[in-house]
Amino acid sequence: MKFFVDTADIEEIRDLAATGLVDGVTTNPSLVAKSGRDFFEVLKDICAAVPGPVSAEVTATDEGGMIREGEKLARIAKNIAIKVPLTWDGLKACKYFTNHKTMVNVTLCFSAAQAILAAKAGATFVSPFVGRLDDVGQDGMQLIAEICTIYRQYNYFHTEVLVASVRNPMHVVYAAKMGAHVATVPPAVLKQLVQHPLTDKGLATFLADWQKTGQKI
Ligand code: G3P
Repeated sequence: MKFFVDTADIEEIRDLAATGLVDGVTTNPSLVAKSGRDFFEVLKDICAAVPGPVSAEVTATDEGGMIREGEKLARIAKNIAIKVPLTWDGLKACKYFTNHKTMVNVTLCFSAAQAILAAKAGATFVSPFVGRLDDVGQDGMQLIAEICTIYRQYNYFHTEVLVASVRNPMHVVYAAKMGAHVATVPPAVLKQLVQHPLTDKGLATFLADWQKTGQKI
């Protein structure tokens, strides 16, 4: 499973990239606004910090505008993936970028029907938002199960399921159980993945017992 970091905070990204466990980054207009930085500048820094795919979202809603904006974003770095919303214009822009060998992340996916369209449009990634479905009383992970099952039926679907809107470590675990290709995870949740109180307790006991031996390695 690939781990992307879901943030535009360059310090968080650099910190987590140093673990060697980060395979890419996703941003969106809200995350960029939260960073308080110039969009193009922060994307340049992120693309330099992480060699994997870095999603940069267009803000136009028409096909022509998405293509114009996406072409500007694609010029920032080779690892830019253009993020477009799951709308008819977004799907048309997706096909354009796919035909021009530019990575595309089709975002704001909330149904299996939408995910089928994203695969047919040749998207590199489709981003189903599990947390936002959970937030409205629907089962976000059920959608991941459906999409993974559908995609496995067609060997000519090459779109990777990029689980987004992740709220907790169990979203990551369940997504992995279902064979989702990628999880894009907020830094706080990524850091939670490593934590377990029994690990801490066990390590403390090992070290205390070792200290009693008076030995050094
Ligand atoms: O960046 C896409 C997605 O991960 C955002 O999720 O619901 O936390 O805003 P959310």
